[in-house]
Amino acid sequence: MSAAAGAGRVTIVTGASSGVGLAVVKRLAARGERVVLVARRKDKLDALAREIGEERAMVCALDVTDLRAIEGLPRRVIDHFGRLDVLVNNAGLNHRGPVAERTAAELADIITVNLVAPIALTRAALAVMDRGAAIVNVASIAGMIPVPEEATYSASKAGLRAFTRALAEEQRSRGVRIASVCPGPIDTDFIADVDHVPDLVFSQPMATPDEVAAEVIACIDGGAEEVALPRTTGKLATLGYVFPALARAIRPALARRGAVNKRRYLERKGRGAGS
Ligand SMILES: NC(=O)c1ccc[n+]([C@@H]2O[C@H](COP(=O)([O-])OP(=O)(O)OC[C@H]3O[C@@H](n4cnc5c(N)ncnc54)[C@H](OP(=O)(O)O)[C@@H]3O)[C@@H](O)[C@H]2O)c1
Repeated sequence: MSAAAGAGRVTIVTGASSGVGLAVVKRLAARGERVVLVARRKDKLDALAREIGEERAMVCALDVTDLRAIEGLPRRVIDHFGRLDVLVNNAGLNHRGPVAERTAAELADIITVNLVAPIALTRAALAVMDRGAAIVNVASIAGMIPVPEEATYSASKAGLRAFTRALAEEQRSRGVRIASVCPGPIDTDFIADVDHVPDLVFSQPMATPDEVAAEVIACIDGGAEEVALPRTTGKLATLGYVFPALARAIRPALARRGAVNKRRYLERKGRGAGS
């Protein structure tokens, strides 16, 4: 466990209003730790803070594309709690579909939320963090093997993964841990636009937000510097990235399996495909 771990620890979680971020916050709060809740939906964050106890939760309702607000956030946390031990860059966004069918603003938005904002927040957090601190970035399997019809999203997550790895080396001697978690599909609002999610994405086992949160916490506590979830999907993705012809050859079979899984998923959710 990291030197800063314990009931006194303070963690910023971006994207705390739903899905993985919410699950991370709940796990940290259950251990008696203090949390800084970041997302746009203030009503959700306020309700979560009441649930945790307002003395242990700080609500920061902001849009992570507001870089001025992001850069000032770590200092606000120091003013409020007196310390900052952990940052979880989890807020994420996708606009699915072929690149040619999305606007330039939508594509830029993906890069700003998923890559520029975590970089800006990391930079500001490092300035107030001490030895034993940790930063965990939630990337994606799409950052390990690019997914057609999610090209910009894949680029944003590959960029976040590269940033994480390089920064881990920069910070090693300073004793600040930098790690990433790369999940496959997760059952959250992120795939609420399920009809537009490529079948290929459903070819891999789906995780719950709490399973991903457990991996994030393990990274904070000193686990691996990069974790793929499921592990086998990570290995398959690496193989496909190194051998793109192999990836192209097996993609149709994976997409067929994904289409079946997607249909079952929709049935579990009480929806027929396309309904
Ligand atoms: N679900 C998947 O299949 C999957 C797979 C691999 C990786 N991931 C990654 O996992 C992370 C968490 O996603 P999730 O699955 O938990 O999805 P989710 O339930 O949709 O949560 C996304 C979170 O990001 C926040 N967010 C989005 N845009 C924001 C902005 N501009 N400013 C501030 N907050 C913003 C949302 O809060 P507000 O709307 O309240 O602002 C929400 O709390 C993301 O980085 C995603 O890329 C997801």
